[in-house]
Amino acid sequence: PNFWPKLHMVGLEDSTTWAEWLEEASHFKVRPDDIFINSYPKSGHHWTYEIISRLTAGSGGRNTTTNKMDAFFEWRRISVFDNLPSPRLLLTHLPFHLMPKEAFKKPCKHIYLVRNPKDTAVSFYYHTKGLRALDYDGSFSDFYESFIKGEVEYNSWFDHVSSWWKSTKNHPNVLWVHYEDLNKKFIPTLKKMASFLGYQANDNLLQQIAEKSSFKNMKEHSEKHDLKAMWKTKDGTMFRKGQVGNWKEYFTVAQNEKFDKVYEDKMADCQDLRVQFS
Ligand code: A3P
Repeated sequence: PNFWPKLHMVGLEDSTTWAEWLEEASHFKVRPDDIFINSYPKSGHHWTYEIISRLTAGSGGRNTTTNKMDAFFEWRRISVFDNLPSPRLLLTHLPFHLMPKEAFKKPCKHIYLVRNPKDTAVSFYYHTKGLRALDYDGSFSDFYESFIKGEVEYNSWFDHVSSWWKSTKNHPNVLWVHYEDLNKKFIPTLKKMASFLGYQANDNLLQQIAEKSSFKNMKEHSEKHDLKAMWKTKDGTMFRKGQVGNWKEYFTVAQNEKFDKVYEDKMADCQDLRVQFS
């Protein structure tokens, strides 16, 4: 089953089909100061949106933005983005081949987030099981098998990450950011993103961003403002654990060994990609 058009259709305000939307999106006109935040689901999209929103707003601040839906590319008619002020933050999980044609030909910036796929799989399990729109009630081991086969929303992690990597690793306008670096080395990673995007950030601002985008703060905030109706139960949240290595509590030894083999096979031509398997 292919879940992703299903979720997409829930987000759109009208009856546009997925094929029509993709056609519109392929002709999207980029602006030189656009910032795309790209990733496979559950790799730190909300977190990075929060960080970059605050960075681009500067020390004047901006309301916390844990609800990313306004900037979520796949959830809006493309014309909506024409009215957004610059710099636009554009969030997407599109696979590389479905990105707007101009996105890598004209100046604009991209951050691609990558996370240990084992942690991504566990996070994605709770997301898929928790969201009303996805109507999923499998066990973790059912989901694990579907994840490996790419039969989940947005399809295969391996295809997504490997095609983005092969197509963008040497592109000067694309910065690859690891969830684990954000988690363990927040300030240096934030500085790297700021310098890549061409933003000056003094120590005060860096500190302010670190505090406001901490897991605790974002979770507390989302409890007040998250789209609660999206979730089947009242404890449903986008801010579940926020940890590196949570997969160890879910994978059996056999599942882990099988995963490593699949990774080796599917990512054979991405050996220079330093995924952090901690
Ligand atoms: P877990 O389910 O492992 O907790 P996305 O935003 O791409 O959907 O990713 C969601 C994952 O990022 C969730 O992982 C969530 O907890 C984690 N996350 C969100 N905000 C975070 C933060 N401020 N610090 C650390 N992890 C965060």
